[in-house]
Amino acid sequence: MNTFLMAANWKMFKTRDEAYQTLTELGKILQTAPKNRDVAVFAPFTCLSACSEALSVCPFVRLGGQNVYPAKDGAFTGEISPGMLVDCGCSMVLTGHSERRSLFKESDAFVGEKTAFALKAGLSVILCAGETLEERDAGGLKEVLFRQLEAGLEKVDDSISPDRLSVAYEPVWAIGTGRVANEAEIVEAHALAREFLVSRFKTAGDKIRILYGGSVKPENAGAIIGLDNVNGVLVGGASLKAQSFADIITA
Ligand code: PGA
Repeated sequence: MNTFLMAANWKMFKTRDEAYQTLTELGKILQTAPKNRDVAVFAPFTCLSACSEALSVCPFVRLGGQNVYPAKDGAFTGEISPGMLVDCGCSMVLTGHSERRSLFKESDAFVGEKTAFALKAGLSVILCAGETLEERDAGGLKEVLFRQLEAGLEKVDDSISPDRLSVAYEPVWAIGTGRVANEAEIVEAHALAREFLVSRFKTAGDKIRILYGGSVKPENAGAIIGLDNVNGVLVGGASLKAQSFADIITA
């Protein structure tokens, strides 16, 4: 497995024009994805169509939604279906981001519903998992990771193609804090995630990409993707500017 997945999570930032401009600029800087790099951008729903238009000048980017509801359609005010994401040009979606878990009270089981439903609907999924500082300090890293991965993947087909599913390890205490996990902490958590994936999906579990997320920047991205079992990064703040994200992609 040597193609890294370099993913941007724009969270609740950017108007349509700003999103279009950022991708246009990224396309000018990079023209094409560097060797061994897949690139994805998870943009706000309102920007997806504008991003999709920008793919004519930035064709190497795959688009994704930051959230999805596990139903084809229905009376779910404020929610969005996999088909609606596809209609806006998406081929990917995030599930289980810690901001969804903590701020919007998404349970492990609900994250599992979303993950399985989105995969069945044809989207590729990055399932996010990670512990809070309290959980880490209480020695709960393995328990939390395994619990979130177990529930998050419970309803996923055993035969899922490993290029359609990735896991992002995102320690909550490293997200948006500037405090990146150190190399030993990343290696330990990714080895645990790999152990879980191999026990769950057998040989395919070795091929599922495990991304690191939490204060990734151009200065640390190269070292991070050089670590064992790190197959890419999920980047928030440092992905908002085209040059900064380009520097991470090429790190
Ligand atoms: P950050 O966010 O890079 O701003 O820490 C990462 C994420 O939430 O995916």
